[in-house]
Amino acid sequence: MNLDTSYLGLKLRNPLVASAGPMTQTADRIARLAEAGVGAVVLPSLFEEQIRAEADRDERLAEAGTDSFGEAMTYLVDPRASTWPRQYLGLIERAAGSGIPVIASLNGSTPGGWTGYARAMQDAGASAIELNIYYLPGSPLPTSTPPLSGRDAEQRYVDILTTVKAAVSIPVAIKLNPYFSSLGEMAVRLDQAGADGLVLFNRFMQTDINPQTLTISTGFKLSSPAEATLARSWIARLRGHLHACLAASTGVETADDVAAYLLAGADVVMTTSALLRHGPAHIAVLLEELTAWMGRMGLGSVGEVRGMLALAADASRPGFGRADYLAAIEQATVTYAPWN
Ligand SMILES: Cc1cc2nc3c(=O)[nH]c(=O)nc-3n(C[C@H](O)[C@H](O)[C@H](O)COP(=O)(O)O)c2cc1C
Repeated sequence: MNLDTSYLGLKLRNPLVASAGPMTQTADRIARLAEAGVGAVVLPSLFEEQIRAEADRDERLAEAGTDSFGEAMTYLVDPRASTWPRQYLGLIERAAGSGIPVIASLNGSTPGGWTGYARAMQDAGASAIELNIYYLPGSPLPTSTPPLSGRDAEQRYVDILTTVKAAVSIPVAIKLNPYFSSLGEMAVRLDQAGADGLVLFNRFMQTDINPQTLTISTGFKLSSPAEATLARSWIARLRGHLHACLAASTGVETADDVAAYLLAGADVVMTTSALLRHGPAHIAVLLEELTAWMGRMGLGSVGEVRGMLALAADASRPGFGRADYLAAIEQATVTYAPWN
């Protein structure tokens, strides 16, 4: 069975990728994932705030030293002299020794100098960079800066991507959220702006309200396979329309979930929640079951599986359009209201 695949121009032994999260935050865990057979890993994100805090501190130190050292003002913020970036770059260096591609991740919300840290990631041995952009553009609070228009919010994604692309020669993927007005158009814009890959989708912090304790809670809940349908249907729609690779992220628990994403057209399939639930050895289970499924289906390679059920392969294929919507509502009405 041939599981070889490529993603962002990198050769991978199989399409299973450990996405950014606690499972890839130490070299030891990454080594265990590599041993279990993972195709590649994405490190947890280095956050713009972590970089900025270090940069501000370095600037203060530089200013404090101006009286005594004439050259003090020539200080540049040095990624290797700052704690967070230094630790992060050290992790890249150690993880690069695991023999699998290591994708570093940058989390920011504005374009700017911090995006230059992408170069330090490249120099430390990252095979590629994933951009994880997070901000809430629509805050209506009068104290905040005025809400961004939808077009300006989208432009930020393009600007951050362009800035990072200009700083590095390694591939750059961009991790998207599903909350764009016109996701297809946004995907095409990012593709045209040079994105080497699109990751669909990120799951963000889940803020909630507890009516019993009258408190607000924040945190991450692990995903379930039911959440995969949105990413899967978008991958099926985008397959064949972009130069950028497509990575699936959200809701992978079993080999069936992996197979379904590949059939939709994903180049690679990422998982975080399942690895946190079951540990790094779960990669070996997924690979074994995926191989068994391919055998049962008479499919010899990942290349054969990929995109078999993508929309682009057969524009008339039912299941993805508005025409199916009404039928699905009627069906659900019968299925979920048996007491009626
Ligand atoms: C505890 C935790 C931490 C995460 N940290 C990051 C991160 O640093 N950067 C990032 O891009 N995504 C992060 N994610 C999101 C995951 O990479 C992934 O996109 C998301 O969990 C959906 O995949 P899943 O359904 O397989 O969990 C995190 C997820 C969890 C649960």
